[in-house]
Formats: sequence, C-alpha cells, structure tokens
Amino acid sequence: MVTTPGRDTSARGGDAALYDEAGQARFDELIAEDKRIEPTDWMPDDYRKTLVRQVSQHAHSEIIGMQPEGNWITRAPSLKRKAILMAKVQDEAGHGLYLYSAAQTLGTTREQMMDDLISGKAKYSSIFNYPTPTWADMGSIGWLVDGAAICNQVPLCRASYGPYGRAMVRICKEESFHQRQGFEILLHLMRGTQEQREMAQESVNRWYAPALMMFGPPDADSPNSAKSMAWNIKRFSNDELRQRFVDMLVPQAEVLGVTLPDPDLKWNEERGHYDYGELDWDEFHEVLKGRGPMNAVRLERRRTAHEDGAWVREAAAAYASKMAARDERIAS
Ligand code: 3HC
Repeated sequence: MVTTPGRDTSARGGDAALYDEAGQARFDELIAEDKRIEPTDWMPDDYRKTLVRQVSQHAHSEIIGMQPEGNWITRAPSLKRKAILMAKVQDEAGHGLYLYSAAQTLGTTREQMMDDLISGKAKYSSIFNYPTPTWADMGSIGWLVDGAAICNQVPLCRASYGPYGRAMVRICKEESFHQRQGFEILLHLMRGTQEQREMAQESVNRWYAPALMMFGPPDADSPNSAKSMAWNIKRFSNDELRQRFVDMLVPQAEVLGVTLPDPDLKWNEERGHYDYGELDWDEFHEVLKGRGPMNAVRLERRRTAHEDGAWVREAAAAYASKMAARDERIAS
C-alpha cells in the first residue's frame, strides 16, 4: 500500500525524492481509481500547470463573456427580457468567481490571472470575439453558445481536480437555464413576423460555425487533449464533443424552424451521427491571435473596467483588514 504524503512537502524543503515518489504513486493511484485530487494532495507540476491554464482560461471566458450580452441589457425589448438578461449576465460573473477561486487553490493569485488577461497574454474563448448587432443574438448565444458550453462542461463536473469539478456542477445547472432562455427567445422570434424570423435566421447563420469551434481544434491538432484525458480532466475529445453538439442541435433546429447554415449537414446511417462540413480553422486561429472582429474592444473594456474598479478592491481590502484586526482583538 502506498503511503499518502498528503502535501507536496518537496516544495517545503522535505525529503524531495522520497516525497515525490510517494506523492506520484498516490496521485497515479487516485487517477487510476477515478478519484479526486484535492488542493492538499501532492500533484505533478504539469498537472497543476494544465489545470491553472484551463481553469483560468475558463474563468476569463466567463468574465469576457458578459460583454456581448451586456450590450443588450439597456435595449432588451421588454422589462421581463431585461430582468432575465441581467440575471444571466450576473450568473456569468458568478461563474468567473467560482473558477478564479478554484484556480487560486492551485497556487496562482487572482492578481496574476487578471494581469495575464488584461495584458492580452491569457486566452479566453474565441466565441466572445464576435459582435452582437441584433436582439436575436441574445437567443443565439443562449441556444448555441451556452448549449455548446453545456456539452463541453457537463463532463467537466467529473474532472479529477475536486474544486474544479465541484464548481462545474453549479455552473452547469445555471448554463442549462441560460440555454433554455436563448432557445425561447429564438422560438418567440420564429413565431413572430417575417422580419423577426429573418432576424433569428440571420443571427443563427453568424453564430453556428463559431459555436462549433468553441470545442477547440480538431483532435489531431489539439496538443493538450491526450494529457488532459489521461489525467481525467477532459473526459471526451474536442471532436467527440463537437459531434455530440451537432447531433443535439439538428432536432432542436427543426423545432425552432431555423436552418443550420451547413450544406454538408446530413445524417450518416453508418456512423449513427450527422456529418457536417469543414470549419474555417484559419478564422479560429486568427481569433486566437487577437485578430477577431471584437478582440480589441473586449480587452479594452475589460482593462477599463479593471481600472475603474480599483477603488472597490481597495475599499474591500481595507474593510477586510479592519475586520481581521477586530477579530484578533476580540480573540486576544
Ligand atoms: N477559444 C480559445 N482558445 C481555444 C479554444 C477556444 N474555443 N479552443 C482551444 N483553444 C486553445 C487552447 O486553450 C489551447 O491553447 P493553450 O495551449 O495556449 O492553452 C490551444 O487552443 C489548443 O487546444 P487544445 O484542444 O489542445 O486545448 P484544451 O485541451 O485545453 O481544450 C477546451 C480546449 C476544450 C476549450 C478546454 O480547455 C476546455 O474544455 N475548457 C473548459 C471550458 C471552457 O473554457 N469553455 C470556454 C467557454 S466558457 C463559456 O462558454 C461561458 C458560458 O457562459 C457560455
């Protein structure tokens, strides 16, 4: 039986070789048994780095993802729609918070992650670099973007790193509501006037392919997948999830009465899945390099919001230290 060191004492000046070996053995055992790794467990540096990368990118996506929809809060077509949209955008902020907190348990700081985001060093989801010129885009984001997010994120509830998996459970419940409200916006438009139906279709035409690209590059071009899957962080490959999403979308599009903009989309009896057309991966890589339609605007807004919020952070820190000093006085 392997003894459990419990902590990465190698980083704290213990017997590094002994503890690394025992820690690695325990880690391998937990992964093989499909159990959870917790922040106090020893973990290989590469596992920690992979998680910090994925979880912080995910957190940034949630925060940047508030912008395209925030664009419509003041122009929502009714008070009810406005209230729903505000709640949804607020949910995304909460998701960012859970995920930044999960990343912090891996030893990175919130300040570091925020610096990486606003300096343009960190990645966030490609999908949020597209504009939202019409109200129907609120429907498409909910149906397609949140729908893709659910497909991708439900398996992450079983991610081997405890704080990440647990954060994902709550996030997925909320994403499920987001997806339905988007579907309902589109359904409402599709049952409306000719102009409303055209607006819905035009929006779906713009969001469909970028939503499919959210799952990441094709498996053959995905450098991180093999390791992440071996470590039970990712449970399915990018292409497997993309296929699952397409198969899910087709019957939903029929209910809505929208056409998915892909002439190659057809049922493949042999595979038991829908075939779909090649995606424009050059566009995807351009967006990742910061050259998408809205990259500059998204980052600039985030930077400004961060600077404008400096006084809030200072006030919160001052209040926290005042409370800590008071607690210390009471305890002594
Ligand atoms: N946008 C931006 N970058 C992407 C991307 C995308 N859609 N897909 C892949 N990439 C990046 C990867 O981050 C990686 O870059 P890096 O090595 O510099 O970090 C590179 O492209 C190669 O891709 P891989 O497939 O090798 O990377 P991963 O194994 O990490 O898989 C992923 C990518 C599927 C996005 C995975 O990281 C993941 O599942 N992340 C968690 C979910 C997430 O972050 N979703 C973002 C959307 S959040 C959201 O939808 C909010 C909701 O409110 C709508």
